[in-house]
Amino acid sequence: MREAPESWGDLAGRLAHTRFGDVRHFAEIDSTNRYLLDEARAGAPEGVVAVADFQTAGRGRLGRAWVAPPGSSLLVSALLRPAVDPALVHLVTMVGGLATADAVFLGAGFSPSLKWPNDLVVGDRKLAGMLSEADLRGGDVQAVVVGIGLNVEWHELPEEIEATATACNLVAGRAVDRADLLVRLLERLDARYGHLGEPGGPEATVGEYRQRCSTLGRRVRVERPDGASEGLARDVDDLGRLVVEGDDGSTKPVAAADVVHLRPEPFT
Ligand code: BTN
Repeated sequence: MREAPESWGDLAGRLAHTRFGDVRHFAEIDSTNRYLLDEARAGAPEGVVAVADFQTAGRGRLGRAWVAPPGSSLLVSALLRPAVDPALVHLVTMVGGLATADAVFLGAGFSPSLKWPNDLVVGDRKLAGMLSEADLRGGDVQAVVVGIGLNVEWHELPEEIEATATACNLVAGRAVDRADLLVRLLERLDARYGHLGEPGGPEATVGEYRQRCSTLGRRVRVERPDGASEGLARDVDDLGRLVVEGDDGSTKPVAAADVVHLRPEPFT
């Protein structure tokens, strides 16, 4: 673990009006999510943020690794202590996805959509991924660490993801500043997370997510460790689950899976 030099200016000052004034910037760390979960278990308060220029053991969804060259990405995790029912914890990640999309619009000038559950995509190319990890004790949510990996400045995409990924600089056609994106992201997360805790907040969050979700209306393949199935993505329910209609007309809510957008079937 190496602390980063003060190259990103006065982040604490720029974020003093939010709950995210305590930003810990590392040149290198194993995983910002691992770091903040340990901090959360040791009693760190809501609002601590960890950001890294490089991760040696970045964690992705469903047990995968998240790999990004040094300086290419915004690799950031935020510690939240939401007073929510464990069933609603997915909405906290949803807020992270919406806030990241806001930040990309404000800082890079284009609007990515959300692929269920929380990837940011441009067309079908992945721009960002999100991994939330919770400290659950006795059925209560003690803490949620929302981790975001956003591709910002990639000069060359590795061959294995060339056809499926993109980055802010490639879409915007210009350099995009990581520190500026970070400040915008945390400002938007602060506002959206605050709103989630207000009356009507959960419904409004899911409503906005539905509007920005490019999975809805698509034919999808749902991949789970126990097998795959295909269907039409009909809705996202109030708990953030994807409602998929099978070919027999029955609908099923999916809580955790990988979803592949399939091309529309050709007309016969
Ligand atoms: C995905 O698989 O799509 C989710 C990737 C999440 C990666 C981010 S990078 C910052 C934070 N720290 C981690 O170890 N993972 C998340």
